[in-house]
Amino acid sequence: MSVNYEDYRRERDVGTPLSESEQQVSLTIDGETVTVPEGTSVLRAAAEVGVNIPKLCATDSLKAFGSCRLCLVEIDGAKGLPASCTTDVREGMVVTTQTERLADIRRNVMELYISDHPLDCLTCPTNGDCELQDMAGAVGLRDVRYGYEGENHLDAEKDESNPYFTFDPSKCIVCSRCVRACDEVQGTFALTIDGRGFESKVSASQDQPFIDSECVSCGACVQACPTATLTEKSLIDMGQPEHFAITTCAYCGVGCSFRAEMKGGEVVKMIPNKDGGANHGHSCVKGRFAFGYATHQDRITTPMIRESIHDPWQEVSWDEAFSFAAKKIKGIQKKYGKDAVGGITSSRCTNEETYLVQKLVRAAFGNNNVDTCARVCHSPTGYGLKTTMGESAGTQNFDSVMEADAIMIIGANPTDAHPVFASQMKRRLQEGADLIIVDPRAIDLVRSPHVEAEYHLGLRPGTNVAIVNALAHVILDEGLEAKEFIESRCDQEAYQDWREFILDAKNSPESVAEETGVPAESVRAAARLFAAAPNGAIYYGLGVSEHSQGSTTVMGIANLAMVTGNLGREGVGVNPLRGQNNVQGACDMGSFPHELPGYRHVSDPEVRKLFGDEWGVEIQSDPGLRIPNMFDAAVGGRFKGMYVQGEDVAQSDPDTHHVEAALSSLECMIVQDLFLNETAKFAHVFLPGSSFLEKNGTFTNAERRISPVRKVMEPKAGLEDWEATIGLAKALGYEMNYSHPSEIMDEIARLTPTFKGVSYKKLDELGSIQWPCNDEAETGTPTMHVDEFVRGKGLFRVTPYVPTDERTTRKYPLLLTTGRILSQYNVGAQTRRTENLSWHNEDVLEMHPHDAEQRGLEEGDWVGLQSRAGETVLRAVITERVQPGVVYTTFHHPESGANVVTTDNSDWATNCPEYKVTAVQAFKVSQLSDWQRKFEAFTDEQIDLLERAKRAQPVS
Ligand code: SF4
Ligand code: SF4
Ligand code: SF4
Ligand code: FES
Repeated sequence: MSVNYEDYRRERDVGTPLSESEQQVSLTIDGETVTVPEGTSVLRAAAEVGVNIPKLCATDSLKAFGSCRLCLVEIDGAKGLPASCTTDVREGMVVTTQTERLADIRRNVMELYISDHPLDCLTCPTNGDCELQDMAGAVGLRDVRYGYEGENHLDAEKDESNPYFTFDPSKCIVCSRCVRACDEVQGTFALTIDGRGFESKVSASQDQPFIDSECVSCGACVQACPTATLTEKSLIDMGQPEHFAITTCAYCGVGCSFRAEMKGGEVVKMIPNKDGGANHGHSCVKGRFAFGYATHQDRITTPMIRESIHDPWQEVSWDEAFSFAAKKIKGIQKKYGKDAVGGITSSRCTNEETYLVQKLVRAAFGNNNVDTCARVCHSPTGYGLKTTMGESAGTQNFDSVMEADAIMIIGANPTDAHPVFASQMKRRLQEGADLIIVDPRAIDLVRSPHVEAEYHLGLRPGTNVAIVNALAHVILDEGLEAKEFIESRCDQEAYQDWREFILDAKNSPESVAEETGVPAESVRAAARLFAAAPNGAIYYGLGVSEHSQGSTTVMGIANLAMVTGNLGREGVGVNPLRGQNNVQGACDMGSFPHELPGYRHVSDPEVRKLFGDEWGVEIQSDPGLRIPNMFDAAVGGRFKGMYVQGEDVAQSDPDTHHVEAALSSLECMIVQDLFLNETAKFAHVFLPGSSFLEKNGTFTNAERRISPVRKVMEPKAGLEDWEATIGLAKALGYEMNYSHPSEIMDEIARLTPTFKGVSYKKLDELGSIQWPCNDEAETGTPTMHVDEFVRGKGLFRVTPYVPTDERTTRKYPLLLTTGRILSQYNVGAQTRRTENLSWHNEDVLEMHPHDAEQRGLEEGDWVGLQSRAGETVLRAVITERVQPGVVYTTFHHPESGANVVTTDNSDWATNCPEYKVTAVQAFKVSQLSDWQRKFEAFTDEQIDLLERAKRAQPVS
């Protein structure tokens, strides 16, 4: 639903944050009685009864500061004129907000501000949406007695260094809202007010340009600024928006809610939604600013086909593309059998689109060969949590962290990969929660402004299970377990088995210290701290799952939460920080080869009948192929056709040589995407994708929160992704009849018990819903496993540590581990097509000074990185952030070839690749690797073949 600005421009700002107190206080404001929670400011109480007291330094996302003196009021019996923003309500208080005296003082304050403010309102970009302008009107300012010719800041120099916003100090009123936003909302502390009195000014870091400062470009200061001092460049270019719609960020698994503020069909700015359940009005640089990829010139908006990957592309109509693809798929199935084709669903597309792709595979291809990118990220989470607790998802909502007393982060880097949640977590840490970090690398949270981890267990990559077991060992060994919880909530037989296993001396911190590289005393101290906390919460990421023992570690983490009784209430839990915007949803929607939607196994005849009857087909009872199995079968000549929606397996999957061999051997590769990504270079059919701004649907974030995605512009290629899937299914002879994604959600709700109560109507009413949502939980479930586990009793599983085969040797003496960076996202297809390149325009190799010195490497040198799988070349960054013997890189740029080096090792239970441990050698080189040279040549060829299509006659 799009809302017009005629009725409503800026989100209502009631001046100070909501008080959570349950005590109510009644007072009188301008003769009207108002009852509000204790701790509410007079300013906010007045706003609640529609009395708008002028204000400038106050805003409801920040604590009151009381510097501008505009919000003064008279209070019976009080001395002077208190600032209403910093004065809390009291029972029986009598407040007057409008008198001659107050009006005079407010006008005087405004005169002082305006006498040092450029009078260029008519040409100012925020004209019509400026709080200073509004306040001048509100106080009835008609004249400025102090003149404009005195000392002023009107010539102060603009800072245009940030690609997304400008800083124009000539317009600054030094209200410090920006400084407080950076401290309180973002937690980066990049801004200060330097100097005093007239000399005071806002300064980034050591008075540096924004781009060189500690600023992470989250935009909280821009949002907080009441003047045009901090302004989005997009707003300056395009002018004020005219309408908006509420939608959800398409980047990471935090799932921030936004107001897409539009002018006609173009996005002017993305403003984080104050009512967003996951983000409460905050965002990171990606969601707020990096939306330009949606209209980037590289977008392919016409379907294309070709016989061979070395042929030029031919632009065709949608129908031609569908029939070409369908004919190829049918031909392959006739020649090689029904199971010679499969599909990959997208964790970036909506739930409804993902549901349709798996339905197409099962109903139109007639097999279970469907998988999703969770295979390569969080499939161990699904396995481990389902096994121990009965549900394949995290247990809490993000807000739960505000009740945590001890926070343990294992193998995750929230400030880079889940930044908005990281800001919330930092708030809790600043309030005094203790922090334990288990990570081979010193992530930012180990020490950042006002946050310091009590313990950083800097383990060797690949030893997670040993550390998690050792933590549990200490808890049992020292009698710190939650006996009552274990007895009442957990399976006793399994607990006794596990207890015996864990108490074995081989799991003690002392026994594993050499293997893990972590001193036993640190492990003991961290375990004691976690076990003693009233509420202990565990957050983990891909540093847990992407290992040969990923599933074992997830079960070990569940054991740790159960043995300390940290489940089933606020402030605790097992919280996987999911990577992509809809990876949770893609898993929920039946994207795995063994599970139908709602994680129900294909071998269950009742489940098959339920779906089979609805879809009018018979569903195969055997699980299909996982992604790595599809690649192996392709190389083996048994798998010949693939439909890949919104996923770039050629860049994101490990062992690139093997993936490329598999993709080259296919007879029909259908890629549906926004851009000619790396996988599309191996495609025979290209179906243009629609961005999140061009479609309706829902995403499900890491907290199981289903949030609306709303169309704010027409699909550039004419069809939304779900419509394209329907077209392909129809060409294959299978009809899907939906006229809107809401009908797809209705079908999901009909067939999936945990989604039974979900509908677009309810989403519109509630804003978002955390599943399970059904008769027992009509508005959703923020906390799982409250009275009992989904599986009944919690199941402790024995988790023996088995060292990975990927060990260092004389030939490969270093361990490579990989991760993400704040400004880039996953394979970078979106963020590389935005100004985010200003921060990270190439992947680099981090190396400890000791290892660099041994190899004669200096900062900026080219380094050859070689493993048993392949070789690539990256630029060196020498840093103590990584420990000796460990090197680290990101994988956001295809030409850096991080996955040429990663191997085919994978998790024993789910095949999730072991991205986090690869034995490598590193040495100084002066030229690109063979693979990189071939990559460049292949890319040039494919771009030429694409350009030839564009030069040819366009399709009518
Ligand atoms: S930049 Fe904006 S928010 Fe910051 S002090 Fe100046 S006017 Fe206030
Ligand atoms: S953009 Fe964010 S990090 Fe940068 S100064 Fe503003 S609030 Fe701080
Ligand atoms: S934290 Fe994630 S969901 Fe939120 S704005 Fe950033 S990328 Fe988007
Ligand atoms: S708004 Fe209260 S002092 Fe500025």
